[in-house]
Amino acid sequence: MKSQKSYTEQLKDVKEVFQRFTLKPVEGVPLMKPIADNWEKVASFRAHPNDLLIATYPKAGTTWIQEMVDLILNNGDAEKCQRAPIPERIPFLEIFSSPTIPSGVELLEQTPSPRVIKTHLPLQLVPQSFWEQRCKVIYVARNAKDNLVSYFHFDRMNQTQPEPGPWSGYITKFMKGELSWGSWYDHVKGYWQEREKRGILYLFYEEMKQNPRQEIVRVMNYLGQSLPDDIIEKIVELTSFKSMKSNPMANYTFFPDFIFDHKVSPFMRKGEVGDWKNHFSEEESAIFDAHYAEQMKGSDIPFKTVI
Ligand code: A3P
Repeated sequence: MKSQKSYTEQLKDVKEVFQRFTLKPVEGVPLMKPIADNWEKVASFRAHPNDLLIATYPKAGTTWIQEMVDLILNNGDAEKCQRAPIPERIPFLEIFSSPTIPSGVELLEQTPSPRVIKTHLPLQLVPQSFWEQRCKVIYVARNAKDNLVSYFHFDRMNQTQPEPGPWSGYITKFMKGELSWGSWYDHVKGYWQEREKRGILYLFYEEMKQNPRQEIVRVMNYLGQSLPDDIIEKIVELTSFKSMKSNPMANYTFFPDFIFDHKVSPFMRKGEVGDWKNHFSEEESAIFDAHYAEQMKGSDIPFKTVI
């Protein structure tokens, strides 16, 4: 029987099963162990043709694009988009279950179409069914340095991810592709290379920041929606960093602190482009840039590290 408790209350019941999980590779990509242990269920997920997949490397602006999409699909109705916490509105495909909370796959099986689905999987691990059904896919990429800074603070506060350790060592782990969901470089390149063939809408965090209206219109057009100007303006406002930071259905304060400890670092942390300058020393930046040039050789992805 379905529990009468809210999502947040159910989460409180599972304190003992949460821990800083180790990582276990799936086809060479390190994933949180309970995701890897449950991999078959994810790989065999059956997509529907009208599913929309939102794919990102962690900390690239996932929650931001999720909120934009939900508002676009609900004609900018703020109240409707407060109907539930974001992981309930837009389930996280590969996330594992805990005693009272269904896994992403289980939750999606109960979700009526049309479904919007979040994933952090690199393109090669996305269940085949999404491609067979020719589902729409929105990908958001964020420049490597800001993405890394955001991930570092997230791993400090997210009590289910491996300990980040000290900053300088964390940079090395990022460069080696040792963090959860693997190499940032392979992730952004994988979707970029396939974007035309597979009809993927490829967005950038920096563009969303610089010109949110323009990017909202791009998403709206991709989804075949048409909204009047005043509603688009309302969505720009509702998806600003300030609005989302104070939105209890988007800011992840619905997770208890044994999962996300906002006292360590808030989920809605800074929301800026260029915060990497406050973290990288000159030497770290030079080493990172040289490695970056090597990894991204031959790639023409137009990343911006400042706006
Ligand atoms: P920072 O840690 O740099 O602040 P994800 O949702 O993929 O986990 O990404 C989280 C990052 O996106 C965090 O970055 C968060 O602050 C930022 N973010 C979330 N909503 C945002 C918004 N409306 N505008 C700008 N940045 C946003």
